[in-house]
Amino acid sequence: MSNTMRALQISDITPASEAVLSEVPVPAVKPGWVLVRVRGIGMNHSEWELCHDEIRESYITHPIIPGIEGVGEVVDPSDQPFVSGQKVCMLMGGMGRMWDGSYAEYCLVRADHLFAIPEAACKLSWATLAAIPETFFTAWGSLFECLQLKAGDTLLVRAASCGLGYAALQIAHALGVRTIATTHRERYVELLKSFGANEVVLDSGALADTGVKADKVLELSGPKTLADSLGCLNHGGICCDTGILGGQFVLNGFDPIKDIPNGCYLTGFFSNYPTQEVMDHIFAFVAKHGIEPFVAKVFDFDHLIDALAMQDEGGFQGKLVIVNEQ
Ligand SMILES: NC(=O)c1ccc[n+]([C@@H]2O[C@H](COP(=O)([O-])OP(=O)(O)OC[C@H]3O[C@@H](n4cnc5c(N)ncnc54)[C@H](OP(=O)(O)O)[C@@H]3O)[C@@H](O)[C@H]2O)c1
Repeated sequence: MSNTMRALQISDITPASEAVLSEVPVPAVKPGWVLVRVRGIGMNHSEWELCHDEIRESYITHPIIPGIEGVGEVVDPSDQPFVSGQKVCMLMGGMGRMWDGSYAEYCLVRADHLFAIPEAACKLSWATLAAIPETFFTAWGSLFECLQLKAGDTLLVRAASCGLGYAALQIAHALGVRTIATTHRERYVELLKSFGANEVVLDSGALADTGVKADKVLELSGPKTLADSLGCLNHGGICCDTGILGGQFVLNGFDPIKDIPNGCYLTGFFSNYPTQEVMDHIFAFVAKHGIEPFVAKVFDFDHLIDALAMQDEGGFQGKLVIVNEQ
């Protein structure tokens, strides 16, 4: 095994047009950390934010290899209970922000953010596996830990035309939950229906006044439309703020007394705390219901920069995935 690897390493704002794969040292194994050969990378809006803005924040390590999630095979388990060759997934916990992430041939992963892929899921392709960890963990946590979703609920997914939105619709559909999806683009209406949305609403930003009502709201647009989403809740309903696609990160002028309807609840989900137990549930659920994650395009690792360019350009739906099977 070579002492060097190819990786995307950034120090400042880096659009795809300025990104290059460079040769960097393979990270040295240390106690509590596991060396993984990266086989699949799921791309997220989060990395786009890092490359275009967040990289200048003081809590980001400089330089940094982006990538908040990945799948691969253990190369060196260090002092941890994994075995060489075992298929694993990794996500969050500062990955790709505080410590080097998955946009590389190898990744040294903090052991509490590394999870075994259950036997039943190991037969899935690297491309399919790569589309699962962060997107499905976030959808799962938002729907079950936060929204306590159950059959019989009506679920509103606000700004559903994103990777996370499609995953949430797939999970809810498998449970038989009635779903209303919103999108800011008319061209995604039929696509959202094909992923299980029972109804699709073109989102003007003001839904509450149009009579849209739901027991649970998954808010992916975020603070920009949160007060309006709360206004869509039925009595006893819950709204979970999970996304920031509206481009507004915090709430200003929010009046909890008036903006949270009486008897309704507001919660938020942060995907920073995955566990093996939850990842096992997710892989089992995906297998049981034959869910195929919505992959927009699969790139070979040699073409990672092309994947970044496609993300910068936008105008596609589903998850961009990079695989490295060499
Ligand atoms: N809370 C957490 O821990 C957590 C975890 C994961 C993700 N998230 C958040 O969840 C959201 C979705 O993430 P993702 O990775 O699934 O995104 P993604 O698949 O990369 O989708 C991003 C795309 O969504 C589209 N979009 C849909 N509705 C939009 C709207 N109302 N305003 C603007 N753009 C809209 C935009 O494309 P078009 O303009 O072409 O339609 C945008 O390029 C992001 O805000 C992300 O930060 C949060």
